[in-house]
Amino acid sequence: MWLFLLISVAVCPMVAEQPFSHQKHAPLKMACTGCHAGAQGKERAGFPAIAQCQGCHKDWNAKIPSQRVYKVRDFVFFSHAAHREKTQCADCHGDVWQQSPVTLFRPTTMIACVECHKEKKATEVCSSCHELGQ
Ligand code: HEC
Ligand code: HEC
Ligand code: HEC
Ligand code: HEC
Ligand code: HEC
Repeated sequence: MWLFLLISVAVCPMVAEQPFSHQKHAPLKMACTGCHAGAQGKERAGFPAIAQCQGCHKDWNAKIPSQRVYKVRDFVFFSHAAHREKTQCADCHGDVWQQSPVTLFRPTTMIACVECHKEKKATEVCSSCHELGQ
């Protein structure tokens, strides 16, 4: 019994699903939108299908995404498309090519949103980010 537990503890970290590492793929100089197709034109950036990974790693299979880092709450309007002209991915997500795994760069709090909106003279009107009457 104890022996079994010891073996499980020793083996599990090795067989655990490894999250995708941007850092390990940095030398390939891939476009963000190759994997996050909606990041410029749509509300959601989205995630790549496993078939895309399998183009280079034939047998790779795991859940994507393995975790969520950035998430706005239901009562907030956020759209990547609205930000494509005047901001860049790194303004909000930092340099992900240095991150493994992705870590929160700019929080998705109201203060953090409004701070940049002030700086860039973008809207601070409540109803831009919230539906009125809620
Ligand atoms: C264009 C080809 C390409 C695509 C597409 C690609 N990778 Fe990779 N991947 C690589 C290369 C090259 C490496 C670096 C290999 C190394 O350092 O030994 C790598 C490394 C990895 C590693 C680390 C392997 C190790 O031994 O450390 C994992 C895990 C991985 N990729 C998963 C993925 C996943 C998940 C996807 C899809 C989201 C993906 N890759 C898409 C080429 C690709
Ligand atoms: C080869 C495909 C690939 C490329 C290219 C890529 N990503 Fe990703 N990205 C992923 C995968 C897969 C995940 C999910 C990782 C996991 O399993 O947790 C992810 C996760 C993220 C996340 C975290 C999202 C969340 O909330 O969980 C951000 C932010 C992100 N990527 C930004 C970028 C940016 C910015 C670029 C370009 C500089 C980029 N990615 C390039 C595949 C890619
Ligand atoms: C103005 C800030 C900002 C910019 C610029 C930005 N993002 Fe995001 N990103 C966010 C926020 C906020 C979320 C959470 C959205 C949600 O929960 O609906 C997010 C979520 C994501 C996710 C998780 C999947 C999803 O769609 O929710 C990925 C991947 C991502 N962004 C990639 C990118 C890439 C690639 C770029 C550049 C082309 C980019 N982002 C530009 C703020 C930003
Ligand atoms: C790094 C700076 C930055 C951050 C962080 C940021 N924004 Fe923005 N946002 C902008 C800019 C600049 C615009 C105006 C874009 C334009 O006019 O092309 C904008 C526009 C918008 C719009 C469209 C407004 C309209 O009426 O057209 C919404 C909605 C929005 N942002 C919500 C958010 C939310 C919610 C967050 C936080 C989760 C956030 N933004 C974080 C810079 C930012
Ligand atoms: C640029 C986007 C943006 C603007 C403008 C904005 N908010 Fe928010 N607001 C947010 C985000 C993002 C959250 C979610 C914060 C979180 O998840 O921690 C939020 C949260 C809230 C909450 C809930 C607080 C909580 O933690 O439960 C209230 C109430 C609120 N906002 C009211 C307002 C009012 C009133 C205005 C106008 C004066 C306003 N907001 C303007 C983005 C915005």
